[in-house]
Amino acid sequence: MKTYKFGNISFNHPPVILAPMEDVTDPPFRVLCREMGADWVYSEFISADGLIRNSDKSKHKLDIFPGERPVSIQIFGANIDAMVEAAKIAEEAAPEFIDINFGCPVKKVAGKGAGAGMLQDVPKMVKMSEAILKSVKIPVTAKTRLGWDLSSKNILDTAEKLQDTGIAALAIHGRTRCQMYKGEADWTLIGEVKNNPRMHIPIIGNGDIKNALDAKDAIDKYGVDGIMVGRASIGNPWVFKEILSFIKNGEIITQPDLNERVGVCLRHLEMSVDWKGERVAINEMRKHYSNYFKAIPNFKQHRIKLVTASSLDDIRQILGEIKLFS
Ligand SMILES: Cc1cc2nc3c(=O)[nH]c(=O)nc-3n(C[C@H](O)[C@H](O)[C@H](O)COP(=O)(O)O)c2cc1C
Repeated sequence: MKTYKFGNISFNHPPVILAPMEDVTDPPFRVLCREMGADWVYSEFISADGLIRNSDKSKHKLDIFPGERPVSIQIFGANIDAMVEAAKIAEEAAPEFIDINFGCPVKKVAGKGAGAGMLQDVPKMVKMSEAILKSVKIPVTAKTRLGWDLSSKNILDTAEKLQDTGIAALAIHGRTRCQMYKGEADWTLIGEVKNNPRMHIPIIGNGDIKNALDAKDAIDKYGVDGIMVGRASIGNPWVFKEILSFIKNGEIITQPDLNERVGVCLRHLEMSVDWKGERVAINEMRKHYSNYFKAIPNFKQHRIKLVTASSLDDIRQILGEIKLFS
């Protein structure tokens, strides 16, 4: 049986991985995704400058809960020295991997030369990776995009250069920086990187995987060593179970019933309240509800109640009402 080796960890199938997502992939959500079968989870991105300044928000993001390993801590920044310091701080949290964010497209990150901004300065990207690799002992990975814009899709060359720095794996989101999240992800170039005879590190494909069929298709068609799932997991951690059951056994599993959805949603919220406080947890939970309950007819009225509720007790009550539908 083929083994898929990433740093010190091996899988007997291409791992299905929770993508890093700001305000989504915090420890509570990562635990839920691991319970639903995700093989490996990534943190939200963490600002290198924030870590160095000892900012509470950034430090808090280094928390790792029991039950969520293997986990990658992702850092971003434009300054090489700051990124090296941040990587050392992240290493103390003892994740299985440190991931370098070379893909964030938002203006306040990419516009300052960090994240996908690095795609405009590949020599600096290489220098930064080398410097981080030299300063930590745990495996380092990177996540990036196809290039800055449609006329500069430099991923084939960039992937080779990053590989030569010694990174343990490369995750590629099949869009350019300028595409942000628009249009469809282009997996052709991800496949070309994977099938480049010069490449030997594992390649993780990312972009628009919504279900088991998409994942199987991407693995079969492009030969990637792992699949990373982002938006399809929001309010739907079951997506990992669904994908893994299909890629391992060819089985399509039944969707969770309303009872289970309410139970997991409530646990998610309670863990979040414990971890980051009621106000922030309630705010961030709002982006999950539509997916948690997408199967319910006339969910709109409940959704309005959920997204306007401001206390855990009120939300418990609304979830109780939703459960009565089952
Ligand atoms: C809300 C949100 C937050 C994100 N935050 C990050 C991040 O912190 N780091 C990162 O590398 N990518 C981030 N991404 C990009 C995702 O990791 C992923 O590359 C992208 O959503 C495409 O995958 P998908 O089609 O499966 O969602 C974010 C995406 C979303 C939707």
